[in-house]
Amino acid sequence: MTIIAANFKTNHTRKSTKEYLETVSTFIEDNKFENEIYIFPTATSLDEYKTVPNINVGAQNAYPTQKGSFTGEIGTEQLDEFDVKTILIGHSERRHVLGETQKSIASKYEYYSNLGYKIIYCIGEPLEVKEAGLDQTLTYVWEQFEGIDVNYDNLILAYEPVWAIGTGVTATTSDISNVHNAIKEKIDKPLLYGGSVKVNNIKEILNVPNVDGALIGTASWNAVDFCEIIKISNNL
Ligand code: PGA
Repeated sequence: MTIIAANFKTNHTRKSTKEYLETVSTFIEDNKFENEIYIFPTATSLDEYKTVPNINVGAQNAYPTQKGSFTGEIGTEQLDEFDVKTILIGHSERRHVLGETQKSIASKYEYYSNLGYKIIYCIGEPLEVKEAGLDQTLTYVWEQFEGIDVNYDNLILAYEPVWAIGTGVTATTSDISNVHNAIKEKIDKPLLYGGSVKVNNIKEILNVPNVDGALIGTASWNAVDFCEIIKISNNL
């Protein structure tokens, strides 16, 4: 079953998230689509949404705590209010823009895996590493698994080259398959591709062997485009 995930980043309000989820849910219900869908709204837009069962609403980020003194963060007490049991960990913007280290990412991973959360764990190399070649890229990617229990049951991986995120530059199918094949050889978990995935390239990307789905930022923010992506991926 193809897995399609939408990362809203710092986009949409609670009101527009509600409308979005209604649109996507109705579309899935009307067409009886069966893809596994994950949607990550902003923390302020989490709520008790009624969706079709194959839509799972998750958190883009949370601190490894139930509650406490961690200004600006949320913990499981806030996630439990909305029955959120899915979390994105290791996204490139949290690593490279917000400065999360592998050590802090690994402790967040340990905390949420101990609680049984569904984790979408992201890895991916910056441009200078990609330009240094495949060996360097894989070395960089393996380092992003440091402290990560890859045998965790409730794990989905997402390979997202940093240079392809939000840039409109998509990795070529051979870039994708080189890294996906190498990861799949070692880790038997669903593996998504992310980085400028759009309506017009989703089919080609999902047809690459060892690509089990896509994690989509920009193109997911528009409900009509996201529905189109769901439709294309469901028919593959
Ligand atoms: P993008 O973002 O689709 O805008 O490139 C992907 C992501 O960051 O998950």
